[in-house]
Amino acid sequence: MSSFVRDWYQYYNIAIFDSIDSTNEEAKRIANTGNSGNYVIWAKSQTKGRGRSGNSWYSPKGNIYLSILLRPDFEVSKLSQLPFLVAVALGKTIKKFIPADKGLTYKWPNDILIEGKKAAGILIESSLTNNNVNWLVIGVGINLCDEPDLKNYLSTSLIKEGAKIPTIDMFVHELMQSFQFYLLQWTKEGFEDIRKEWLKNSIPKGAVITAKYTGNRVSGTFEGIDDKGNLQMQLSNNQTIMISSGEVFYSTKQFTE
Ligand code: BTN
Repeated sequence: MSSFVRDWYQYYNIAIFDSIDSTNEEAKRIANTGNSGNYVIWAKSQTKGRGRSGNSWYSPKGNIYLSILLRPDFEVSKLSQLPFLVAVALGKTIKKFIPADKGLTYKWPNDILIEGKKAAGILIESSLTNNNVNWLVIGVGINLCDEPDLKNYLSTSLIKEGAKIPTIDMFVHELMQSFQFYLLQWTKEGFEDIRKEWLKNSIPKGAVITAKYTGNRVSGTFEGIDDKGNLQMQLSNNQTIMISSGEVFYSTKQFTE
């Protein structure tokens, strides 16, 4: 990591909870008090952890639940690139701790898989006024020691995949340092390097996927992401479609709904 990134904690207030409803909710409460600082909110467990698409997020003690509250200074149109920045920062961090032969892949829009099973997820929420982002909450959940047993996709934990993590604090420090590095890189140089890095470790191009979006469900092949982070998917009639938000299921093994 380049030395131009100063230590992340210089930029944030830090709040640590033993247990809380949801770190994303706490971040939003702080944002709505009119308080203007950046925050990192870290809870050891959550009682109402939230995932994407209205799902709950399994949140026992032992895993990591973190929300980053930012008051960004960028156009709303760039928000769609952010999940990829966070995924790459998280993926790079996880790779430092798991055995080198374990496959880490990014699944659109922002899941981290190890050996094809979900190990971490990202939930980004924001408040917008016209073209301004008032606040941004980046919630990250990492299955460190424990994972849920869900019916519609396979999960794993870092420890189950053989990760050696000296302390949780060290993992959080590495993650935040990595996030700050990519945030700075993105601000200075734009999305392209992050897009390339994400694609290097994404599920393979040509992989058969099923996408659920705005009430539709289609199957086709994964063809990459464009410069806004939209999913490019090819249907059986050779038509390529772009999807800006939704859920992707990869391989029949993981999709049992
Ligand atoms: C997903 O569905 O993949 C996203 C999961 C995001 C979970 C994290 S845990 C920390 C933060 N607080 C929450 O309630 N959710 C996010």
